[in-house]
Amino acid sequence: MGKSPTVTNLFLKIVGASEQELLGKPHNIIRHPQMPRVIFKLLWEKIKNKEEIFAYVKNLSFDGGYYWVYANVTASSDATGQIVGYYSIRRKANPKALEIINPLYDKLLELEKTGSMDASLNYLTRVLEEKGMSYEEFSNTLQRL
Ligand SMILES: Cc1cc2nc3c(=O)[nH]c(=O)nc-3n(C[C@H](O)[C@H](O)[C@H](O)COP(=O)(O)O)c2cc1C
Repeated sequence: MGKSPTVTNLFLKIVGASEQELLGKPHNIIRHPQMPRVIFKLLWEKIKNKEEIFAYVKNLSFDGGYYWVYANVTASSDATGQIVGYYSIRRKANPKALEIINPLYDKLLELEKTGSMDASLNYLTRVLEEKGMSYEEFSNTLQRL
C-alpha cells in the first residue's frame, strides 16, 4: 500500500461514489446492514493475528444497492513485525457460492438480531465443525464450485 492511495475507477463505479467520498474513510462506510457481525469479528481476529482471511462480504453501493465480493484480507507488517496497515484483495464472488452463503448469512443475522453474537458464532462454529473445515477452507471450497 503506497503513501498516497488512489481509489480505482472500477471500484468507484461499483460503489457509485466519488474518490473524495471514499479516500481515507473507514472500511465500514460500505458496510451492508445484512452482513452478520460475526464475519467481521472473525476477520479482525485473523488479521490482527497476522493470519489472512478469505471471506464473502456484501457491500453497500452509494445508490442503496449492493455488491458481493470474495475478499482476501491481510495485515501489512514493517521490518520489525509491527502491523502498519491492512489491505484487501477483492475478487468477484462465485454466484454458486452465494447460493450457500446467502441463507447462511441470513441465519447468522437472524441469530444476532434475536439472540446474540454468541448464538451466531456458535451456529457458524457448528456448521463448520460438521463440514470439518475452517471458514477459509469452507469459503475457498465454495469459490471453486
Ligand atoms: C483491509 C480491510 C478491508 C475491509 N473491507 C471491508 C468491506 O469491503 N466491507 C465491509 O463492510 N467491511 C470491511 N472491512 C471491515 C470493517 O473495517 C468493519 O469491521 C466492518 O465493516 C464492520 O463495521 P462495524 O463494526 O462498524 O459494524 C474491512 C477491514 C479491513 C481491515
